[in-house]
Amino acid sequence: MSLAGPGLVLDYWGPTTLEVPMWAPPDPMPDFETLADIAPLECTSNGTRHVHQSELLIDHGDGLLGSTWVFDGHSLTEDIESVLAVHMRDETGSLRLTLHTAVRPDSDVVRRWSTIHNVSADRAVTLRRAWSGGWSVNAPHGARLSYLAGAWGREFDNLQVPLRYGTFSIGSRMGVTGHLFSPHMVFEPFDVRGEVSEGTAAIGVALAWSGSWEMVAEAHANARAWRVSAGVQSEALAIVLNPGESFQTPETLGVYSAAGAEGVRRAWHHYQRKVLARSVTPYHQPVVYNSWFATRFDVRSDHQRELARVAADLGAEVFVVDDGWFRGRDSERRGLGDWTPDLDRMPEGLTPLIEAVQKTGMRFGLWIEPEGVNPDSDLFREHPDWVYRACDRPLVSLRKQYVLDFGRPEVVEWIQETLRDLLTSYQISYLKWDMNRPVTDGGRPGDARSARWAIDHTQGYYRVLQMLRDEFPHVTIEGCAGGGGRVDPAVLALTDVVWPSDETGPRDRLMIQDGFLRAYPQHVMSSWVTDLLGTRDRAQTSLGFRFVTSMAGALGIGSDLLSWDHEKVKHGRDLVELYKSIRQIVHNSQVHTHGDPGMRGYTQEFLGEDGTIVLLTWAAGRDRPADAGRFTEWLLPARLFPKTVTADRRYRVRSTGEIFTGAVLRSDGLPIPWLVAPDADVLILDPLDERPT
Ligand code: GLA
Repeated sequence: MSLAGPGLVLDYWGPTTLEVPMWAPPDPMPDFETLADIAPLECTSNGTRHVHQSELLIDHGDGLLGSTWVFDGHSLTEDIESVLAVHMRDETGSLRLTLHTAVRPDSDVVRRWSTIHNVSADRAVTLRRAWSGGWSVNAPHGARLSYLAGAWGREFDNLQVPLRYGTFSIGSRMGVTGHLFSPHMVFEPFDVRGEVSEGTAAIGVALAWSGSWEMVAEAHANARAWRVSAGVQSEALAIVLNPGESFQTPETLGVYSAAGAEGVRRAWHHYQRKVLARSVTPYHQPVVYNSWFATRFDVRSDHQRELARVAADLGAEVFVVDDGWFRGRDSERRGLGDWTPDLDRMPEGLTPLIEAVQKTGMRFGLWIEPEGVNPDSDLFREHPDWVYRACDRPLVSLRKQYVLDFGRPEVVEWIQETLRDLLTSYQISYLKWDMNRPVTDGGRPGDARSARWAIDHTQGYYRVLQMLRDEFPHVTIEGCAGGGGRVDPAVLALTDVVWPSDETGPRDRLMIQDGFLRAYPQHVMSSWVTDLLGTRDRAQTSLGFRFVTSMAGALGIGSDLLSWDHEKVKHGRDLVELYKSIRQIVHNSQVHTHGDPGMRGYTQEFLGEDGTIVLLTWAAGRDRPADAGRFTEWLLPARLFPKTVTADRRYRVRSTGEIFTGAVLRSDGLPIPWLVAPDADVLILDPLDERPT
C-alpha cells in the first residue's frame, strides 16, 4: 500500500516478493472519471470518489456531503500480528479516519477495519454508510464469483456467477447474518478467453459481522480490478457522530491464494481453526445428544432421563435439553423470556435431572434464546418497552415472538444477570444460543439514537457472548439462529460450534454441509443424526449414511432414542466409537473433497499430522435407488483416488487389512468395500513406514 493523491492505494497483493510494483494511474487517464475513481483505494468516502462507489457516505448536516482526506501520520504495532494504522483528516477538520490493516505470520488472512472519529468541538456528522473497507481484486477480463446462498432449511448453496461489468451485491436486512447469504465471496479471475485457467490464483473476501450487512462487488470498463466492499447494512442506518464520538467498523477479511479457490478455503479454515477457535478438542466439540427432535416442547424430567440413559450408552458426551424446559414453555406461543425451570413438567426442578445426566458420565446443557420474548411471558408483561418498536406501528410477531432491544444497556444487563444466575445455580457446561426470527421493527420510540439499532443490537449480542466466555470458560457455546441464520467469522470467534441448518435429512444435509465447508471449517459444524427424511430429497438412507454425514463435522445425535431397538443402539455405539477414533484428524486437518454431493460418489479426505488418512465417502447422488438395502453393485462408485497419499509410502486400510502403496492408490484407486453401510463408508489409511521397504 502507498499514498497516492486521493488516499491510500493498494499497490500489490500476491505472493511474497522483494520488488513490490507501485500502482500507477493509467496513461492516458480515461475521460469522465477522476483519479480517485480509478485508483484501488483501500477505503474512501463520497466527496473523494464521485463516479464509483465509496465505502463511507458522510453527511455534514449543513449541506456538505462527503469528505476529502489528507494523510495525517501512521503507526505500526508489532505483536502476534502487525497492525498498521494510517490516519487521515478531512478538509473540514471535523473528522479523523484511521484505516487499520492487520497481518500475522501464521495466516494468509488480512484483517481490515476503519475508525471514524468526530474530532470537532461543536459539529455533529451523520454516517449514512460506514462500510469497513474495499478490496481490489485484479481481474481485467472479469471473474468467476462464488458465493453461498439459501434460505431456512437449505442454507449454504454454493453458487457461481460470471462477472464482467456491473454490480453484484448480497447481504442481510434481518438484524442477523441471515439464511439467505453468507458474508463471503471468492473471485477467480478470467483469462483473455473469459475462462478460469488452470493454476489461477483466487481471492476471498469475508465480513466478520453478525447483524445486517452488505457486500458489493463492482467493476467498470475502465477499472482493471473488481472492487469488493463490505460492511454494516446502510439502508436502515444512520450513525450520528456527536463531537468526540467515533465509530469503529466491523472487520472485513481478505485472503489471496496462489492455489485458487481451494487454497482460499484452506486459508479460511486455517484461520478459523488456529486464530478464531479457543480450542479444537473433544471438550468444546463434544458428541452432543440434543432432545429437540425427540420431544419438541414436551420436556418432562422422567422422559429426559430415559433419553439420557440411552444417549450415554451410545457414547454421547453432553446431554442438551432443547427448547421447552423453562417456565410456561409448552409451545412456541408461551414462556420465551422466562428463564427458570418449568415446575409443572419438572416438579423437582432441574437439579435431579442434571445429577442423573452427570451420573451417566455426560455433561449437561440447555437451549436458550436470549433475544426472543413471547407476548405471553412474565418478562413481556413486566417490560413491554424492552422490545423493538418503530414508534406507534403495530408490533410484528413472527414465530409468535418479538425481539428484545439489545441496544438498551438494561436489557443486556438483565440477560447477563439471568445467565449468570442460571450458570451458577446449576451445573451447566453447554449452552445452545438460538435466535428464531429476523428483527423487523428495529427502533426505540422517541430515541434518535435508535436509528443505529442494527449495530447496537449486534454489539449487545457480542457483549453477552464475551461475558459467557470470560466468566464461564468451561461452558461450550453452540450458535444457532433457526438453523444457519447466524454464521460468520465474528460468531466463530465467540462460539465453539454452530448449527448450520434445521435440515437433518441426510442427503439434503450433505449438500448443505458441502456448501458450509466452502467458507467454514469442520470442527464448528454441528451435525446430528436424526430420524427425519429430507425436505428436498425424501429418499431413505442407511443409518450408517447418517452417521458418516455427521462424522464430517462435530457429530451429535438428535434421534428419538427410545424408539431404537437394542441392535440399532449397538450399531450406533459402534459408529460413535468410530467417529471418536477419527475426530481429532477430521477436526484438525484440511478437508479435500472429491465429486459433489449431488453426484453418485462424494468423498471428503483428511490427512492427519502423523500421515493417517481418513476418507468419508457416500453414494450420495440423486440417481441412486431409494432403498439403500437394494443397491446393485454397479450403482456404487467402486474406487476412490486419494489426493493426499505419499507415493512411496505403504498404507494399511484399517477396515479390510489390505495394504497398498501410495503410488498404486494414485494410479489404480482404492476399492471401496462399503463396510460401514451399503451407501457410505469410512476408510482409514494407516501409514506403515516412512519409506518403502
Ligand atoms: C430453532 C432451532 C432448532 C430448535 C428450535 C427450538 O428452530 O434451529 O434446533 O432449537 O429452534 O424452538
